[in-house]
Amino acid sequence: MSSLKGRSVVLGVTGSIASYKAADIASKLNQAGALVDVILTPAAQEFVSSLTFRSLTHRPVVTDMLDADSELAVEHVALAERADVVLIAPATANTIAKLAYGFVDDAITATVLATTAPVVIAPAMDAKMYQSAVTNENIKRLEDRGYLFVGPGVGNLASGLTGPGRLVDTADILNAISDSVSSTKDLEGLRIVVSAGGTEEAIDPVRHITNRSSGKQGYGIAQAARDRGAEVTLISAPTALAPVDGVNMVNVTSARTMLDAVQDACEGADALVMAAAVADWEPAEFAQQKMKKVKGQDRLVLELKKTPDILFEVRNEALIKVGFAAESEDLIANATDKLQNKNLDFIVANDITASDAGFNVDTNRVVILDKSGGREDLPLLLKEKVGDHILDRIKLIKAEANK
Ligand SMILES: Cc1cc2nc3c(=O)[nH]c(=O)nc-3n(C[C@H](O)[C@H](O)[C@H](O)COP(=O)(O)O)c2cc1C
Repeated sequence: MSSLKGRSVVLGVTGSIASYKAADIASKLNQAGALVDVILTPAAQEFVSSLTFRSLTHRPVVTDMLDADSELAVEHVALAERADVVLIAPATANTIAKLAYGFVDDAITATVLATTAPVVIAPAMDAKMYQSAVTNENIKRLEDRGYLFVGPGVGNLASGLTGPGRLVDTADILNAISDSVSSTKDLEGLRIVVSAGGTEEAIDPVRHITNRSSGKQGYGIAQAARDRGAEVTLISAPTALAPVDGVNMVNVTSARTMLDAVQDACEGADALVMAAAVADWEPAEFAQQKMKKVKGQDRLVLELKKTPDILFEVRNEALIKVGFAAESEDLIANATDKLQNKNLDFIVANDITASDAGFNVDTNRVVILDKSGGREDLPLLLKEKVGDHILDRIKLIKAEANK
């Protein structure tokens, strides 16, 4: 189930007697490392409590699209945008019918209508309801539009009947959504180099200068590119993160070692995404021995010199170059300068003073500026999802270049 790690799954729960089983689904998704956002229809809330799902997912649960305090009130399609997959389990005959005809009167139907992510539906209902001509037509309509159905299973139903209508097992549902998120391999054949983490510039054998970059954004991009079939080299300065499976990991420490690794990896590569926080300055001299405290000395002046500018140094004319600008003030002006000075295809700018974006959190809110003057403000997204936006642009630039 590694394909669900770091993925955003929206779980819509509707008003079925099988609603309680959705708690197990939410729990297993959470254990698989997915970020789970649960939406309950008003009918579902008669069967199960939002507290259960909030406790299992450690995230707010959406119970009312028009609730002024909910994330959806500000941006009612926020979950649709963030989702890697939308799962409706259990799905009632009523919700299936509404989806088949495009009704949007609750947060589940709004999210499904607004998403471009795969939608997986696990129906649960009485056998007669399932076998009715109208339900069959509705399911067919949705299947024809690309919605994926898993189940229902056959067996004893709450109504006392035996027949089709049971919600399928959690394992089958997880397999179905895992298949659906890993099926797009649109970057096959592309070689993408990603840098991540904060470099360490040594002062003496035990001390270094570094910064607060966690590496999460770069790792998220590498993961997203791998999942979409690209050949990925991840050049990582030290981080607390586990290596990403299925990519070429290159561990480095300083700006200089990162430069060498990036230059090597960029030979023949299609794109370089410099998400690493590379030090601008390094100690002018490396002290061979640990610097000692000197009695009576209250101050120490450390002389610094400029580190190499990696994006500028890399020489590969065909390379698509993407920079990052993490700024605490004048975000757009500073990012625009960097975009132009380093001759980048586009730059991803983020304001590091926001508590839900920037360093050491799983989400980011970025603005993308491109070399032809375009600007795109993305909403708050998981870092992998920011990665997908970056990769979509790389794919587009590559396609234009190949025309
Ligand atoms: C006890 C009980 C169990 C129900 N179970 C189901 C069910 O399993 N499947 C279904 O389609 N409808 C079931 N219903 C009917 C739905 O709750 C009803 O159609 C509701 O409007 C669904 O709303 P929703 O789709 O917005 O959640 C049940 C109703 C009751 C009272």
